[in-house]
Amino acid sequence: MKELRSLNKFLIRYKWRLLLGVLFIICANWFNLYPAQIFRNAIDIVVETINTYKHMKGSELQSEVYENLGKALLIFAGLLLTVAIIKGIFTFFMRYTIIMVSRFIEFDLKNEIYNHYQKLDTSFYKENKTGDIMNRIGDDVSKVRMYLGPSIMYLINLVVLFALVITTMVNINAELSLYILLPLPVLSVTIYYVSQLINIKSERVQKQLSKLFNISQETFAGIRVIKAYNKSNSTVEKFNQEAKNYRSIAMNLVTTESLFYPVILFLPVLSTLITIYVGGLEVIKGTITFGNIGEFVIYINLLTWPVASLGWVTSLIQRAVASQKRINEFLSIEPKIQNQTNEACQIKGAIEFKNVQFTYPESGVEALKDISFKVQPGQTLAIVGKTGSGKSTIVQLLNRLYDNSSGEILIDNDPIQLINLNDLRNQTGCVPQDVFLFSDTIGNNISFGTFTKDQKSNQKDIEWAARQAVVHETIKQFNKGYETVVGERGVTLSGGQKQRVSIARAILKSPQILIFDDCLSAVDTETEEKILTNLKQIMANKTTIIVSHRISSIKDADHIIMIENGKIIEEGKHDELIQLSGAYKNLYEKQLIED
Ligand SMILES: Nc1ncnc2c1ncn2[C@@H]1O[C@H](COP(=O)(O)OP(=O)(O)OP(=O)(O)O)[C@@H](O)[C@H]1O
Ligand SMILES: [Mg+2]
Repeated sequence: MKELRSLNKFLIRYKWRLLLGVLFIICANWFNLYPAQIFRNAIDIVVETINTYKHMKGSELQSEVYENLGKALLIFAGLLLTVAIIKGIFTFFMRYTIIMVSRFIEFDLKNEIYNHYQKLDTSFYKENKTGDIMNRIGDDVSKVRMYLGPSIMYLINLVVLFALVITTMVNINAELSLYILLPLPVLSVTIYYVSQLINIKSERVQKQLSKLFNISQETFAGIRVIKAYNKSNSTVEKFNQEAKNYRSIAMNLVTTESLFYPVILFLPVLSTLITIYVGGLEVIKGTITFGNIGEFVIYINLLTWPVASLGWVTSLIQRAVASQKRINEFLSIEPKIQNQTNEACQIKGAIEFKNVQFTYPESGVEALKDISFKVQPGQTLAIVGKTGSGKSTIVQLLNRLYDNSSGEILIDNDPIQLINLNDLRNQTGCVPQDVFLFSDTIGNNISFGTFTKDQKSNQKDIEWAARQAVVHETIKQFNKGYETVVGERGVTLSGGQKQRVSIARAILKSPQILIFDDCLSAVDTETEEKILTNLKQIMANKTTIIVSHRISSIKDADHIIMIENGKIIEEGKHDELIQLSGAYKNLYEKQLIED
């Protein structure tokens, strides 16, 4: 239960509403008792009247007695109806207040988890599957809500009802009450064990559901590859296989659950039989009336559902504990990349790597072995190298998506870890290798990095950035221009268009440090040339880092480093590197021939 303690702060936040809910529970249960008493009186009057009626055989008064009974019963019926309505009203408010609190807490909890997700760094997202991350905020929160809503409500209800019903019963006849109540603990314990079983089986169902969710999620994300490789059938088969597994596990659960209800129904019947038998003996003795037997039967029925629900509630709570445990595990993960200062910082753009080494924590791959270089504001640094040589890793370290394992990264001569992370990211414009566009309009995608939410106000700037990225003319050709919605991840744009929209997004930020990670790869050389010329103007006095496979994109850079296996193998200006007649020249000549 200690896992659920973390929810107490929410319960305290809504304590007044909860207290009101408890008050409604007490009122509703108070009115729950009346029908039984009305019923007892009605039976007693009927029995009495029949006796009197028999005695008055032949007398004129007989029909009057008969009429009076009719009137009395009508009054009882009216009373029953009134009590039922009042009870209904209180029950409504009881559910309304308590279930509402659980919805409020669900909302708060979802927000807390979502905000925490935003703080966690990239390695968290690489270690955890999207399906699991989604489950924490969806399914697990729902289970916790079942604890906060129905479980708490039924538990309080049970306590109140028991207190009221049992005192009333014992007051009437203690011995009879004892006999009747005897089967009830058996009911509770049985239901507890059955629900334990149900729990284990539900967990299995849940796990299989997660699996199904992950499969379908991945299928939808990779639908283009699946179609291109004509793998729809095998994907469907794989899904069907898992769905079949799901069905058999779920059917197993259904069977157990079906056993559950006969148990609930059988034991109260036993109590009823005892009431009639033992109660009958008591009536003969004269200690109770016929009406009392009827009253007790109603009490048994009143108690049955709450007692049965005790087992059910226990299982709900157990599930909530398991879910909250998973939620707590996620919430307790501290982001590895911490912002160590809130001091505002104006970045000038000098960058220095000193013997930087980096190993990916998830895979243990040593991506950078010993990297040292220096860039001054206003300069352009180019990084070339074979695929997998570590270029994107350098970019990620510069954005502090990871922290370097050893060595030092200095920004304006300060260690990167000591610079305000928000300022670092705000003043750096990065065009990542795997372009990502949101399913929004092109305009909003370009203005994503700037702070004005209202796109209209900076339409001019957006167009300016698009012109610099040589994509303005293309966007103009679309029917809706900048208002064109690009589809999920930008599926409606070509690779080169996506790259240029992404470049415009970074340019619009007018960052102090601009990083292009191989983002001109899908752009033809002529357009590339134009973009680079534009950049020179925009980035005067600022720092530009260009990662590329193509020497044509970088030959004008102030400094070029060529890396292989996480190490710099050659560096210098284009002409110097050509004169070296090494790997760089080799690559250059190959590309010239290709052109
Ligand atoms: N998230 C990651 N987790 C573990 N290893 C990674 C991760 N990203 C990259 N690597 C590994 O680090 C090495 C360097 O990768 P990096 O992405 O920096 O190469 P790159 O030079 O950018 O290549 P490309 O030109 O293909 O983009 C590779 O061996 C790669 O397998
Ligand atoms: Mg890369």
